[in-house]
Amino acid sequence: MTETPASSPAVVVLAAGKGTRMKSDLHKVLHPIAGRPMIEHLLASAAELAPARQVVVAGHGREQLEAALGDRAAIAVQEPQLGTGHAVQQAEAALAGFDGDVLILYGDVPFVRAATMRAMLDRLHAADAPAVVVLAFEPDDALQYGRVIAANGRISKMVEHKDASPDERACRLCNSGLMAVKAADLFALLARVGNDNAQGEYYLTDIVNVANGDGRVCAVVVTDDPDEVAGINSRAELAESEGRWQAKRRRQAMDDGATLAAPETVWFSWDTELGRDVTVGQNVVFGPGVNVADKATIHAFCHLEGATIASGAEIGPYARLRPGAVLMEKAKVGNFVEVKKATLGKGAKANHLSYIGDAEVGAGANIGAGTITCNYDGYFKYKTVIGERAFIGSNSSLIAPVRIGADAIVAAGSAVSRDVSDGELRLVRAEQLVKPGWADRFHDAMKKKKAEKKG
Ligand code: UD1
Ligand code: CA
Repeated sequence: MTETPASSPAVVVLAAGKGTRMKSDLHKVLHPIAGRPMIEHLLASAAELAPARQVVVAGHGREQLEAALGDRAAIAVQEPQLGTGHAVQQAEAALAGFDGDVLILYGDVPFVRAATMRAMLDRLHAADAPAVVVLAFEPDDALQYGRVIAANGRISKMVEHKDASPDERACRLCNSGLMAVKAADLFALLARVGNDNAQGEYYLTDIVNVANGDGRVCAVVVTDDPDEVAGINSRAELAESEGRWQAKRRRQAMDDGATLAAPETVWFSWDTELGRDVTVGQNVVFGPGVNVADKATIHAFCHLEGATIASGAEIGPYARLRPGAVLMEKAKVGNFVEVKKATLGKGAKANHLSYIGDAEVGAGANIGAGTITCNYDGYFKYKTVIGERAFIGSNSSLIAPVRIGADAIVAAGSAVSRDVSDGELRLVRAEQLVKPGWADRFHDAMKKKKAEKKG
């Protein structure tokens, strides 16, 4: 028999630690993984529980958190930082009047799954009505983690590594730091926690020991995936976390029907969307905001960001798509082509060495090698519009604002600064001089001169 969990929990995210080991001016929890600040990953998972309130406990650098989170979370200030228990106490005012479940998370432990959070809340409402639910894990190396002394899922003691006896240190069940507690219990228990310990801190873990002293049950939920509770304290751990995230995402992409020629060389963003039968070559980087439809091909060494790629389109090798790049069905962008804020219509091609920015390219148009849309005069940006089936000769400069009509031809090497009508040929280059035999006469004369000098 389990009681139904109170409808919506409150989430308290601890983020007041100094993050000293990051050696950074950027707040630790704002460091990105897969292009998204770590705290945003965490809040996204928590959002699956539809939290009634969200409180972030912050100290140093809290302005950065305020700016990043806006009104999505209340910021509670902890100054000075006297321990995890003291940190949670700072959220009390923001939770005034809330009497549901409180889920305590760490801002630097960003990848706890929503299912795990749910399991903790469910356990809190089990028949034995635990006062506190602790999320624990069994790492290969228990290191400095706090230990959870438990039997049959019930905790008899929580002890920090620095305070632990050799026997307690031998225990491999470690505290992730995450807890679920009913609001009414949480602040009453915290009020009774002291700081008489090895670090002189108010330990959140001591609420378990206080509750045990009252004869109440405290329960442990053990995750089978130690990676989900991995904390990030240094740049090296940040990179490791990124690596694990990427490995999972690559696996997901393949499970969803994409071919990755060399998965370990493809880098995704948190929001990358790939369709079925998409092929991704070696060393491709997806920045934020990329959506790739079914059957598109991305050849090796491409960098994409803010791009929308329709079915059957082909990109690269060595192409760069920047924000606002839109490729319609079967459009092609080849090597050393950069596209920014530009749409290439169905089947349009820019196969070599081009810059296409602030532009609309009609269906079936062909952009010759080396074509540049000159979109910027040092002050403002201007648009280039190219009609359907237009042919732009190689090494042309299209000086925006300019419009090239449908079926028009721009001759190679043209610098076009005035609109070209539908079906027109535009040729903007000097008349050619033709001098038959001139080179032969030149060589003869010069060779003769040189021979005379030597002699
Ligand atoms: C804490 C736990 C330990 C657990 C470990 C898991 C306690 C007493 N110890 O230890 O049992 O194994 O996490 O990583 O809870 N924070 C504040 N304010 C403070 C102190 C910390 O907001 O005054 C925040 C930090 O920003 C961080 C989290 O709390 O997000 C944990 O702090 P940290 O110093 O890493 O805790 P540990 O001592 O490692
Ligand atoms: Ca830590």
